[in-house]
This record gives sequence, structure tokens and C-alpha cells, in this order.
Amino acid sequence: RTDLAALFIIFGGSGDLAQRKLYPALFNLYQKGYLKEHFAVIGTARRPWSDEHYHEIIMTSLAGFEADETVKKTFASHFYYQSHDVTDAQHYETLKQLAAKLDDQYQLQQNRIYYMAMSPRFFGTIASHLGSEALLTADGFNRLIIEKPFGRDYDSAKILNDELTQTFEEDQIYRIDHYLGKEMIQNIMALRFGNGLLGAVWNKQFIDNVQITLAESVGVEDRAGYYETSGALRDMMQNHIMQVIGMLAMEMPVSFSAEDVQREKTRLFKSIQPYTPAEIKTNFVRAQYGETPVEGQTQPGYRQETNVAPASQTETFVAGKVLIDNERWCGVPFYVRTGKRLARKETQINIVFKKTGVNIFAPDKNDQSAVAPDVLTIFVEPEQGFALTLNGKKVGQGFELVPGQLAYQYNQQMLADSPEAYERLILEALNGDGTNFTHWRELAASWQFVDAIRKVWDADQTALPTYPIGSMGPKEATELVQSTGAEWIFDP
Ligand code: BG6
Repeated sequence: RTDLAALFIIFGGSGDLAQRKLYPALFNLYQKGYLKEHFAVIGTARRPWSDEHYHEIIMTSLAGFEADETVKKTFASHFYYQSHDVTDAQHYETLKQLAAKLDDQYQLQQNRIYYMAMSPRFFGTIASHLGSEALLTADGFNRLIIEKPFGRDYDSAKILNDELTQTFEEDQIYRIDHYLGKEMIQNIMALRFGNGLLGAVWNKQFIDNVQITLAESVGVEDRAGYYETSGALRDMMQNHIMQVIGMLAMEMPVSFSAEDVQREKTRLFKSIQPYTPAEIKTNFVRAQYGETPVEGQTQPGYRQETNVAPASQTETFVAGKVLIDNERWCGVPFYVRTGKRLARKETQINIVFKKTGVNIFAPDKNDQSAVAPDVLTIFVEPEQGFALTLNGKKVGQGFELVPGQLAYQYNQQMLADSPEAYERLILEALNGDGTNFTHWRELAASWQFVDAIRKVWDADQTALPTYPIGSMGPKEATELVQSTGAEWIFDP
């Protein structure tokens, strides 16, 4: 393994994301030997912390690791804290000096990763200052990792992107979508492009519909401030769901490089059928979780949650039918849904194949209801693996079809070896591999699709339908799929 050299400058070093995700991810890379001697981290935020206090924060964020205390402490000794006002040019000068000093001290070869993990309203300002105050090095690499939300619609995303590209080239910008760091999402490419068998049937001739479910059991938690401005459409559909559609539906890239993969995803997004306002109303459903009695107690609905407006029109559930206007997919609905406070936390993809034309085993050969469709299920989380549901003969006299499953579940050991999404993506960024990051053109196309829906919804002030906590959403989501004769396969 190579020992990678880099300085990480984390904007938002005192924040929740840094503590919950980034520090543990860096520690994993350290324990696995990707980071050894030649790395340092500058955490910046407004509050005036000492390095000692920062080290305590790092140690606390590693509390879940069984590693030796001295290993943790040596790791934490690579961290430096710099109190920083992102709007103050002078502060970038101080940062630059500290960066240069650490570069010498740890022989970092002028490699820098700038990580934006704070309030998105400062992303543009930070990038401009990094340029104007000459933080970028001449000899090493300079890469920007940027968290979501990347804008709140196409226009604001474009403004932000224009700001970033004044300082960074497109191939220096790593827009994170942590779904692309998940083992089973990356596995979609292996399934599709590593199996002649699946490759041959991956099209409208054999596939009836595709279903993507990103279900969560938690509610809005303590994030109402953010969520009220976002809703499920912006929070999950614009990024994670669109990326999953991209992985499932893009054409085979010429190679596995970032450039080729991102190009195919962009082409795919551009092929998504734009809807008229009337089509949006029939093809997309939104809802809110409502107050629900659970075991004799009333669980608060979304509108009763802390910091949520009592008449909030923010959706906590979205379901929709996405159509792709290209030769491979025309006429095949991609059904998607996501929501908070659903029956359970599960991300699952179902590829539903077309049934045989006739059923010679039924009294009425045209009775399709007696045959279940073949389904390829990709279990993304919490279980990971895949299963192919096929029909076989029911054991015994007579001749009835019953579905059986060829299943492949990853076991505990394999899952334990699988890197967490942030760990994987940070390593990819360190290696200069942008394959699992989002290109601006993908983002632009996905915002344009989502903006059209948002616009229709914002203009319609009728109260949202509600769904009970612990269900799989409103009846409208079931009806959406039934309208084409299908059913949601994942039905806990
Ligand atoms: C985030 C959303 O991007 O993804 C959250 O902002 C959501 O609202 C989370 O809970 C879900 O991610 P995961 O990995 O738990 O499925």
C-alpha cells in the first residue's frame, strides 16, 4: 500500500458531519495504512478552540473504535485547529502560513484537499478566497470535496458552480453523494457490466419496470431547520435517487474512468422525459407523515415536530414515475419512492421482468395474475446482496407455479471488511478518482428535472396527504404503481 501524502483543510471542523463521518473515515484510512506519516488535518471553524481541545474532540469521535489509545492519540496529533472567519481575507493568510508549515513538517508534497463540510451558503465565499489568497499550491494536487446541498435549484447551483470554477477546474471538484460510496450501489455496475446474462436482458424488451425505494424509519430528528427548506424531493430525489437511476439505466461506459462514467450518466439524465405540469400531477406524489397512535400513545406527525411550521407544506415522502426517452428504456417506468417515518430503514432496488406471454399451467392461458414476475432484487442496506426470484413448480401433485429465490447475501465478515461510504470516497478523492462523484452536468440535469416538479408543487397549496407513521406512504403511492398494472415489490 502506498502511503498517501496530503493536507486536509476542513471547513466546518467542529461540525456534526466532521465528527460523525469524516474523522472516523480518516481514522479507518489511517488504520489500514493509506494514511501514515505524511498527512495532517487543519480543522477550521469560528469558535476559538485550542489544538488540545480539538484533539479531545477527535478522540471522542473515535470512541466507537476498539483501537489502542496510543494509536488514536498519534493519529489525533496530526490534527490542528484554526479559528477562522470564512469571510475575512486576513484569516486565509494565517491559514496559508499554517498550511505551508505543516507541508514542510509532514512532507506533504503540496497536496491539498479542501473539504467543505459547513453551511452551504459559505461554499462560494470559501472557494473564492482560496483562489484570491493563493492557498492553492503550484506543485501538488489541489482538490475540493464539497458536500450537499449543492444549491437549492438549478439557478442557485449554477451560481455556486460558477463561483467554484473561478478557483477550481471541474476535475478538481469532487461533489459528494454518499450513495455512490455504498458497496451495493457501486456493485450495480458489476452486476450490469460484469454479467453477459444480465446485460442481455437489461432493456425494455425484458424489463417491465424498475423500482427504487429509499425508506427511512427516523423522522426529521433535529434537522427541521434544514429540512423545512428542503423536503424529500431536494433532500433525497435530486441527488441519491437520481444517481441510483443513473447507475441502473446508463449505457455501458467506454471505460471505468470518471470521464466516461460521468458522460454516460449525463447522457442518461438528459434522456429523462421532461413532464408537463399536468403530467407532474399524475406522475409524482408527495405526502407528510401524520400524527399516529402507536401502542396507545400519539406519535407526533411532521407538523408537530419541533421547529416545523404548524401549516408546513414540506413533503416528507415522494414517490414518482420516471420515464426515459431512449432506445433501451422507452416505455419502462422507473418507480421511485423515499420517505421519513416509514415501516423500516431499507434501501432496495427491484428490477421487475416481463411475464411470459401465456401461462400454459393455468386453466385460462391468458390469466397473467397466476404468475409472479421474475425479479432481481438488489439489497443495498441494511442487508446487502442480491436475489433473483424465479418461478418453479410447487412440490406435489398438480402443477402450480411458485416463486423461489436464488439469493446471495453478504455475510457479517464481508460487511465488516467493506469500507464505510465516506472512507471509500475520501480515499478515491485522494487517489484522484472522480468516478463516484457527481459531475456538474449531471447535477445541472437533475436539478432541472426536480425544479419542474418543485414549481408545480409550490404553486399548489392544497394540504398534502398524510400517511401513518410505520406505513409505506400514502395510498396515492400504491395507486401510482397500480395504474400500470404493477405492484410495489418491497412491501414490509
Ligand atoms: C442524507 C439526507 O443525504 O441521506 C438525510 O440528508 C437522510 O435526510 C440520509 O437521512 C440517508 O442516508 P443513508 O445512508 O442513511 O440511507
